[in-house]
Amino acid sequence: MRIDVVTIFPAFFDVLEVSLLGRARGAGLLDIRVHDLRDHTTDRHRTVDDTPYGGGAGMVMKPEPWAQSLDAIAAEQEGGEDAASGPLFVFPSPAGERFTQSVAREWSAEQHIVFGCGRYEGIDERVFAYASTIGRVRLVSLGDYVLNGGEVAAMAMIEAVGRLVPGVVGNPESLVEESHEDGLLEYPSYTKPASWRGYDVPDVLLSGHHGRVADWRRGQQVERTRLRRPDLLSE
Ligand code: ADE
Repeated sequence: MRIDVVTIFPAFFDVLEVSLLGRARGAGLLDIRVHDLRDHTTDRHRTVDDTPYGGGAGMVMKPEPWAQSLDAIAAEQEGGEDAASGPLFVFPSPAGERFTQSVAREWSAEQHIVFGCGRYEGIDERVFAYASTIGRVRLVSLGDYVLNGGEVAAMAMIEAVGRLVPGVVGNPESLVEESHEDGLLEYPSYTKPASWRGYDVPDVLLSGHHGRVADWRRGQQVERTRLRRPDLLSE
């Protein structure tokens, strides 16, 4: 899978060189390229923002550097002649649709995803209309809170999607029994020793009885979800 990131803070993405995703990049499973939006400015100050029409607080990101950056990335993709076969453009935004595990799974089958990381009060709205002429566009939110920009959100989405790309996680079975994969939170896990500082591992897990272990885990999943995330049960 190819992933491009457009940002005014490329250094944010240096951490993609470590851990699981770093290894996946080294193995050629993920081709991640980070681009500085300011490379597509033409003035001496490399300006990417301006005051909002209609007034109001803050600054808005100018459309032209975005269009040039997205054009350059889309042009590198083979076979992307029309919007439907072009890249998936993802703009992290608190005003977007919710990012979930099922969205991550859907995106893990994409060939090419481009993350556009906005700063300030956002990106000129016309950029989304323009991007939809060269690819598909999604505005996506991590949750109901506001970050300073899209970088941290894009990083979270890259990790959630990247680990679902076949081969990135060594043991694919470990992806099955996770929180949110079946609409429930994950069951609790324990390792040795069976007794530690006065806390004991639940007896059923030491029984060696697979059916009873599976029933207990399912019960724990339902109970945890009911207590911590009742919203998931009513969806
Ligand atoms: N940018 C700022 N806040 C965000 C959020 N909650 N999710 C995604 N992108 C964002």
